[in-house]
Amino acid sequence: MPLTRIVSWSHTLLQEVLRPGDLAVDLTAGKGRDTLMLADAVGVDGRVVAFDIQAKALDQTAERLSSSGREPVFWLEDQAIPKLPGCYLIQGCHTDLKKFVGPELRAVVANLGYLPGGDPEQTTCLSTTVEALRQGLQLLCKGGRMAVTVYPGHSGGAEEGAAVTELLSGLPSDAWQVLHMVVANHSVAPYLLVAEKKQ
Ligand SMILES: C[S@@+](CC[C@H](N)C(=O)[O-])C[C@H]1O[C@@H](n2cnc3c(N)ncnc32)[C@H](O)[C@@H]1O
Repeated sequence: MPLTRIVSWSHTLLQEVLRPGDLAVDLTAGKGRDTLMLADAVGVDGRVVAFDIQAKALDQTAERLSSSGREPVFWLEDQAIPKLPGCYLIQGCHTDLKKFVGPELRAVVANLGYLPGGDPEQTTCLSTTVEALRQGLQLLCKGGRMAVTVYPGHSGGAEEGAAVTELLSGLPSDAWQVLHMVVANHSVAPYLLVAEKKQ
């Protein structure tokens, strides 16, 4: 794989800890590539919850899952998802994470920025991103990981990235391991932060 393909690194590092039957969350479903990766890793007995504010993004995610033999559920209830295995798609802001998902999360993925090919104004934003990540960190189980891909090139992306970096690099080292992966010879390339809650 090309060395600088940051999203692929995020997948590899999450796949390493995910097991069949796990619970995983995609905070930014977009075109569904990350959601499908999680769904494949947790298998038919696992649960994946994917958020996006745009109906168009969730439709693309649902299509991707369906093409891979999944039956995604558009979760329209105003309550937590059930214990039943499945891929639950939620149209709304990821700051509602705790309303829909309980503890014992094995993995959280957040691929920031805007929907590829979509409206660049509909981008993730610093305050909601940080709040959703805080909730995700609280819900992770021991050994669980959160992977955040930051795109500093778009408007507001650099500031959002700085806030995410501050949040994750401030986690206490007795309880967390945190990795920061950057493309060393390109200043506006995406970069990755991965936090693992120690066993
Ligand atoms: C870079 S894309 C995600 C790419 C995606 N994970 C994939 O695999 O194709 C970012 C997505 O975040 C969504 N988004 C922006 N703000 C959000 C929010 N507050 N809550 C949930 N999703 C949000 C956008 O609509 C967009 O689809």
